[in-house]
Amino acid sequence: MRSGCVMALLALFLSHVYSQGLYGFAPIPSTHYPYVIEFAKFAVSEYNKKTTDKLAFERLVKGKYTSGTPIYYVLVIAAKNESLPNIPSSNYEATLTVGPIKTLDSFRKIYGLHAYPPIKI
Ligand SMILES: *[C@@H]1O[C@H](CO)[C@@H](O)[C@H](O)[C@H]1NC(C)=O
Repeated sequence: MRSGCVMALLALFLSHVYSQGLYGFAPIPSTHYPYVIEFAKFAVSEYNKKTTDKLAFERLVKGKYTSGTPIYYVLVIAAKNESLPNIPSSNYEATLTVGPIKTLDSFRKIYGLHAYPPIKI
């Protein structure tokens, strides 16, 4: 009960962080930073673990982050759905918390580059 409540509060807090930009997001200066690419690959592999989907990371399209600890990332990732070999890759938006531990907070398909409020997975 108690931990469920804490989790619910945490989810509420995180959705507020991401949607309201509580900490002020800045765009990542490059989509080629190896550590940010690692976070994008982590997001895809966590998503695959939590679902039965098989997404394959293609590239980091864009991203934004907060300064401070932990760092919150919103990454737009091009990935290929390997269950649909004939369909080109799609963009997905992942939100992550990167601190002493790294967590994937949400992951969803997006159409175009417009960032919609994240949906909890
Ligand atoms: C990948 O394709 C499968 C099969 O159509 C579908 O069920 C699944 O939702 C797709 N996953 C994503 C993340 O688009």
